[in-house]
Amino acid sequence: MKNINGYLQENRQKLLDELFDLLKIPSVSADPIYAEDVANAANFIKNQLVKIGLDNVSIEETPGYPIVYAEKIFDKNLPTVLIYGHYDVQPVDPIELWHSDPFDPVIKKTDIHPEGAIFARGAADDKGQMFMHVKAVEYLLKNDQLPVNVKFMIEGEEEVGSPSLAWYVKRNHDKLKNDVIIISDTGMVANDVPAITTGLRGLSFVEVCVTGPNRDLHSGLYGGAVANPINILTKMIAQLTDVNNHITIPKFYDNVKELSPEERAEIAKTPFDLDTYKKALDIADVYGEKGYTTLERQSIRPTLDVNGIWGGYTGEGAKTVIPSKAYAKISMRLVPGQDPDAIPGMFEAYFKSIAPKAVKVEVKNLHGGHPYVTPTNHIGYKAAAKAMHKAFGKNPLPIYSGGSIPIVPLFEKELGTKSVLMGFGLNSDAIHSPNEHYGVFNYFKGIETLSYFYDFYKNEFNQK
Ligand code: BES
Ligand code: MN
Ligand code: MN
Repeated sequence: MKNINGYLQENRQKLLDELFDLLKIPSVSADPIYAEDVANAANFIKNQLVKIGLDNVSIEETPGYPIVYAEKIFDKNLPTVLIYGHYDVQPVDPIELWHSDPFDPVIKKTDIHPEGAIFARGAADDKGQMFMHVKAVEYLLKNDQLPVNVKFMIEGEEEVGSPSLAWYVKRNHDKLKNDVIIISDTGMVANDVPAITTGLRGLSFVEVCVTGPNRDLHSGLYGGAVANPINILTKMIAQLTDVNNHITIPKFYDNVKELSPEERAEIAKTPFDLDTYKKALDIADVYGEKGYTTLERQSIRPTLDVNGIWGGYTGEGAKTVIPSKAYAKISMRLVPGQDPDAIPGMFEAYFKSIAPKAVKVEVKNLHGGHPYVTPTNHIGYKAAAKAMHKAFGKNPLPIYSGGSIPIVPLFEKELGTKSVLMGFGLNSDAIHSPNEHYGVFNYFKGIETLSYFYDFYKNEFNQK
């Protein structure tokens, strides 16, 4: 029997080809045009899980896209590890900025990935990372080395807020019973700085509509006399933060957990070079809340960002018009202490309070999620750290991430277990952006690391 590295070497091309076949399916959950493709991606995963020898593999129908479930239960006295991931991907637009077809994966070398990276939508988020789990379990099953029970739960709506998974988890407590959940849908610091994510931000996402006159108007005949909703909307947005980039919504920071000087010193230990950061983004300077470092601003502080803004005439040439309506989509990233069920109400009350009488304001709460923390003394964290040490030759850093996976805190609430966020991506992977990619190194190192996790977990579990 081959050890994992011999196995990965021998099967290198096959492991890449299989992932490529998955990446070729345009499973964009946000756009109903791709409904059939999303369903095909679910089927692809199902077939894989059958092929590697799991039991009770099923496509679980939901009000939305299905969840792919599978399990291998050796003995009910053994610990059970639940693996979560998502087979849906973000939309590809702006498509013209991609250097290759987002659904025809290619390997290209980059500065950060001299070994090559796989360029495709979903390569890092999350198909490439989710698939590592399938391949690690395949290896262990082939060699009779899986020491615990496993359950897979792979969803197709993560990128749209996991509405059906929430529905499913609430109805399937027994079926999903587990001792720990492992997820690869986050990142490390660098390929030689492995990390485990111990914090995720929460999210409140709202859409606002400002209405002025009941129809678009001639901007000469009416200009200057009636409220222009785009002018008003931009003024209102400008009032949401102050000169220190502090958010002005009353009560917004009320329960925010401030970090101790010791905790801040820990964060400051994460390798980070401001010049490299600025160069990579082509920016002359960073920008953010006064009194906090870039690492803090992007992880443990709440944010408010306009994600999109539209209204009026945006076609060729000039059309003189005062629009009737203006819109914006606004995200607020939340940190421990903040409640995504309370924040949209605070936003709405304040936003309406700063609107002049000349316009009407509507606020829609689109979706949200709670922040999340995995303590480093959890046995799942310890096992993951040991697996990373074995694979990378050094201890991983615990890191707070600025991203959100709203279903993770829901798992804890509904199933009572913690998730270990063992991701292998890099910030430079361009997830959600044009030219998303995932390092070939990261793909194989991920499979290797995950194959080590189970033994370490079983040991930790038995020592408990
Ligand atoms: N995998 C990401 C979240 C992520 C990426 C966390 C990198 C930490 C590091 C996930 O697919 C995602 O994009 N989440 C969304 C939220 C969701 C409700 C659309 C996000 O963070 O914007
Ligand atoms: Mn993801
Ligand atoms: Mn994502």
